[in-house]
Amino acid sequence: MSINLRDTDGMVGMRVAGRLAAELLDYLTPHICPGITTNQIDRLAEDYTTRVQGAVSAPLHYAPQGHTPYPKSICTSVNHQVCHGIPNDKPLKGGDILNVDVTLIKDGWHGDTSRMFMVGHVSIAARRLCRLSFEAMWKGILQVRAGACLGDVGHAIQIYAEGHGLSVVREYCGHGIGRNFHEDPQVLHYGKAGTGELLQAGMTLTIEPMLNAGRRDVRSMSDGWTIVTKDHSLSAQWEHTVLVTDTGYEVLTLSANSPDVPAFVLSPAKT
Ligand code: MF3
Ligand code: CO
Ligand code: CO
Repeated sequence: MSINLRDTDGMVGMRVAGRLAAELLDYLTPHICPGITTNQIDRLAEDYTTRVQGAVSAPLHYAPQGHTPYPKSICTSVNHQVCHGIPNDKPLKGGDILNVDVTLIKDGWHGDTSRMFMVGHVSIAARRLCRLSFEAMWKGILQVRAGACLGDVGHAIQIYAEGHGLSVVREYCGHGIGRNFHEDPQVLHYGKAGTGELLQAGMTLTIEPMLNAGRRDVRSMSDGWTIVTKDHSLSAQWEHTVLVTDTGYEVLTLSANSPDVPAFVLSPAKT
């Protein structure tokens, strides 16, 4: 495994790309309501990324080994879809929960972030799943600092998720990110504290847990991309790109309208 470290220029580039990715989600947010199709959201994203931000959508035509080229500019995963949902012409309806995952390239650097959106009036169980998966991502982020290890991140997420009766998807993980969309290391969202690769200052990683309300098992659809829960239970995911620092972390995918961080991030002693 070879892990790239950012120098000062790389950090600047990653900060810019990260902020733009978060600002793209800010831009999309008011459009996400009952009746809009995920294809319409995809078009809005592509236009904003290219015309306003002067950036490139990383998912469009992305073709990792064993996959057909990804056909759209963003991923939209609705309800029991876990990740990599392909935008289509079906209108969103009240009660849906939706992950919008955006990745853009600016000056060669990648910013990758996703949020959950609740469409119209959403059930209490779905709201709880969205909130707990947001908190689980932050539990992982709080572990990040030079000298910690990847197992600490995965463990914190797993303990929090399973402690609230949710399951952690195993087949997909966070990743190193920089000039490449997906780099080493793999960032598992489960594991054992004190194990795995040591974090070093200058690493840039994503943390993007997928949590299911039911069983953790997933399967992939015949479109070659969309991942769904086997038991059709709801699934939720949030994603940030973070920089490892000597004293902790810097979240690179923040913007003016990023959701407020959980209270335990500001006063970790309380939980
Ligand atoms: N953005 C996803 C991630 O967080 C990857 C999507 S790959 C795509 O890693 F091709 F589906 F866009
Ligand atoms: Co990612
Ligand atoms: Co992503």
